[in-house]
Amino acid sequence: MKPGILGIGDALPAQVVTNADLEARLDTSDEWIVRRTGIRERHWLQGDETLAELAAKACEAALADAGRQAGEVDHLLIATITPDQLTPGLAPAVAARLGAEHAAVVDLNAACTGFLYGLDHAAALVESGRASNVLVVGAEALSRITDHEDRGTAVLFGDGAAAALVGPINEGRGIAGFEFGYDATLAELLYAQRDERLLRMAGQEVYRHAVARMTEATERLLGRLGVDASEIDLFVAHQANARIVSAVADAVGVPHERVSFNVEWTANTSAASIPLGLAAAERAGLLEPGALVGMVAFGAGFVWGAGLASWKDGAALAA
Ligand code: ACO
Repeated sequence: MKPGILGIGDALPAQVVTNADLEARLDTSDEWIVRRTGIRERHWLQGDETLAELAAKACEAALADAGRQAGEVDHLLIATITPDQLTPGLAPAVAARLGAEHAAVVDLNAACTGFLYGLDHAAALVESGRASNVLVVGAEALSRITDHEDRGTAVLFGDGAAAALVGPINEGRGIAGFEFGYDATLAELLYAQRDERLLRMAGQEVYRHAVARMTEATERLLGRLGVDASEIDLFVAHQANARIVSAVADAVGVPHERVSFNVEWTANTSAASIPLGLAAAERAGLLEPGALVGMVAFGAGFVWGAGLASWKDGAALAA
């Protein structure tokens, strides 16, 4: 069975935190944040709101978009580094809220690259005939592991969730392939320790590696699949910083009108970043069925990956 993306859905917390809000309590400025990162706003969960609720909303929207019911979901894969509890993971709570009674449920942790790993796993499940409806979710509450006193990182992170439904398709390219890599020798440049539970990052070094690895992974994937950068209709790179996204798109050779930029409104949402970008791009009319989508991410580990898929192509086969 050829796997494809059949539906997309997203959800952001109601609370919006603007750069002006941060200016009021940190030694920073809207001008610095916009110039160095492209970020203007981020959404943060508040009080007793849970990430499970937010992720379930994103899943409901993805299922509605694909015309499927929760009872038809056979696997729910959630990429996150910020589950509501250390254990149990997020996936069982989301499946229960959703009413996905027959789903296999699991959390994946590959930091900002988690959604691409989820898509790869989902594609393999569908290809092998072991599943027909796989929800792949990226969900993060990074505000809960942010040092809100450190201006170097406090302005960068946001919360959000987005989900894609993956299932068999009978025409089109579908989920075509991935390229993954890691370098654990550089783990100390971006991490959150077990006891401190706050994200620490050597920003400039991470920036340099992010641009190089995302460019390399995309070029390798395109080379392996025999696809030219000019064929990419939309390029969705992990939204950590608009300058990083621009630099990677320029190096790969994708013009900016075919690049998704939504870091402005979401900030860096780690595993949720790529599916939030896909959902926003479709709303903005940038994604038509059959469009070729290049995706790439880089984050803690370091772990990175690139993926290529055509968008909602072909009629979905009956489950
Ligand atoms: N407001 C004002 N000034 C600031 C702020 C702020 N919020 N933060 C830092 N500065 C200052 C610094 O103190 C420094 O001042 P100095 O020159 O007097 O020492 C100056 O601005 C420059 O600081 P840099 O850290 O060099 O700024 P840079 O241009 O590198 O931008 C940033 C920092 C935005 C963090 C950038 O390096 C970056 O985006 N890095 C990569 C992020 C990324 O890709 N992360 C990957 C995944 S994240 C994840 O996995 C969850």
